[in-house]
Amino acid sequence: MYKIAWLPGDGIGKDVTDAVKIVLDGIEFNAELIHGDIGWKFWKSEGNPLPDRTIELLRKCDCAYFGAITSKPKEEAQKELNPELRKEGIQYFSPIVKLRQLFDLYVNMRPCKAYPGNPLNYRDDIDLVIFRENTEGLYSGIEYHPVPERVFNALMETHPKMERFKNVPLEDMAISTRIFTRKGCRRILKKAFEYADKFNRKSVTVVEKPNVIRETSGLMVREAREIAKDYPDIELWETNVDAMAMWLIKNPQDYSVLVSSNMFGDIISDEAAQLIGGLGFACSGNIGDKFAVFEPTHGSAPKYAGKYVVNPMAAILAAKMMLDWLGEIELAKKLEDAVALVIKEGKVRTYDMGGKSSTLDVANEIVKKFKEIH
Ligand code: NAI
Ligand code: MG
Repeated sequence: MYKIAWLPGDGIGKDVTDAVKIVLDGIEFNAELIHGDIGWKFWKSEGNPLPDRTIELLRKCDCAYFGAITSKPKEEAQKELNPELRKEGIQYFSPIVKLRQLFDLYVNMRPCKAYPGNPLNYRDDIDLVIFRENTEGLYSGIEYHPVPERVFNALMETHPKMERFKNVPLEDMAISTRIFTRKGCRRILKKAFEYADKFNRKSVTVVEKPNVIRETSGLMVREAREIAKDYPDIELWETNVDAMAMWLIKNPQDYSVLVSSNMFGDIISDEAAQLIGGLGFACSGNIGDKFAVFEPTHGSAPKYAGKYVVNPMAAILAAKMMLDWLGEIELAKKLEDAVALVIKEGKVRTYDMGGKSSTLDVANEIVKKFKEIH
């Protein structure tokens, strides 16, 4: 029996995880789902959106399933914090970003597949899988504002192009770093190629911008060429991120596996998700070598919280990814078949797909179809 850390979080995180629970029960997935606290509620009451007890729970489980959280800007976060905790200088942090770093979940995998019959599909023949680096790059959080004098001086001393900025007051300057490591590049690229190899995908496209961001994007592309040598049957395509944004609209069906750094991957994967139905369909896995956290990509959508009207497909497809990762390949496949059938029949649909069904109606219908076809 598997042990899954079950983290509904805030807002519609609960609505969609309730739907996933119905599905996992219905398909008789043999697991104990153990509730963990995460999100805004715990920031307000404890000053910690990811309590230590939750981290301990995760360490005891095979993997985690996460719904969604609410996060708010700095000032609001301080205002909503329990007054007794306010003075200690604690700051809000994103618990999901923390989880990625803490468990070294370096792969953010985002399949974007158009299921036939989905009225929200841009085209019916899209089947992309995006591998986004999840731990470094522009989202490392190594940023300065104002810029410390030591950092400024070091840049002045080491880079001739800093000359242009020499008279800018330090408080009028902000710097966000984009650190890539060879190891970081190689491991995400490897995962993309291994996936392509396993599922007979013909190409891997590395999405960067090495003609302009010469050092970081350059490192990623050079490493991609190295790794590609181990996979002679898979074509390596190199595409600049701006062009990729365009190609995804023009010919999304031509692409297969995409791999990119943290921020570019984030942007491209949201664009790709919109081609196959948007937030109601976008699922993702944060995957490391030993642990993984699966989640729908959407947030807590506060205005729909507790109304059970949002689409649980993204959350259910994230559960399908979890089954795959656990090695329950057959169960995952059967679940996907049931999902595809419900989409195709089009009788039970949430509002975003033009229907009136509830979140839980969709879950129950998927279970019904699962039982009918197997
Ligand atoms: P959101 O993803 O929560 O919702 C935006 C809009 O998308 C919703 O109002 C709704 O119209 C639609 N939508 C989202 N999920 C849907 C679903 N399953 N079915 C149908 N329609 C759906 O993004 P928003 O409003 O920008 O953020 C709300 C809160 O969520 C914020 O506090 C934000 O920080 C947080 N957030 C959390 C994320 C996470 O937990 N991974 C990711 C994105 C935002
Ligand atoms: Mg995003």
